[in-house]
Amino acid sequence: MDAAAVLAWYDRHARDLPWRVSPSDRARGVHADPYRVWLSEVMLQQTTVAAVQKYFLRFTHLWPTVFDLAAAPLDAVLREWAGLGYYARARNLHACAVAVVERHGGIFPQTSEGLQTLPGIGAYTSAAIAAICFDERIAVLDGNLDRVLARYYALDVPVREAKDELRAALQQNVPERSGDFAQAMMDLGATTCAPRAACCLICPLQPDCRAAREGEPVFYPIKPVK
Ligand code: ADE
Ligand code: SF4
Repeated sequence: MDAAAVLAWYDRHARDLPWRVSPSDRARGVHADPYRVWLSEVMLQQTTVAAVQKYFLRFTHLWPTVFDLAAAPLDAVLREWAGLGYYARARNLHACAVAVVERHGGIFPQTSEGLQTLPGIGAYTSAAIAAICFDERIAVLDGNLDRVLARYYALDVPVREAKDELRAALQQNVPERSGDFAQAMMDLGATTCAPRAACCLICPLQPDCRAAREGEPVFYPIKPVK
């Protein structure tokens, strides 16, 4: 996989999202704030980027740091969460902020392993934060990535039967700029390689994409037989 092409594409076409660092700051080596990345990743579980943005801006306006969120009354957090659904996530969010402050002095752990010890942070979220904030060379694999990779490799079984292989294949390709690579792949999954339409002509993965070569990429991922 041409990770350099994916990064070059990201440098030109990254979505401008409020938890991301701007391209000019990125060029100066500025990294994303773990608090903001963590908050966005928790909100983005089961909710779309479009819906999350206004909640994200409201939360970071009310509670600009993890200290502010930890000190907020739980009922205020739940009230602001209304509309995002899954209140357990909001309770975990608050518990996690408290844990970061009480156990870590307000500094998020800087490895995926360390992050997973916190409430509500599982394999996906810890990998996303560690890559995006600390450039840990770890594969960040969500449902959108499953689709992109199933197409790229023309996976001939349903994704759930090949999770380990997909993860290993992605891990092999994670470059130094792992956070940008993860977010580039997310953007590709959301825009260029969308569920119902694949825009292969403008995709940086196109030269080696097996589904594109076969000519009918939306055939993948293969649906499981129930
Ligand atoms: N979905 C989950 N995390 C994301 C991120 N960091 N950027 C865009 N989409 C996402
Ligand atoms: Fe998806 Fe087409 Fe890109 Fe392959 S070339 S990853 S099918 S958009």
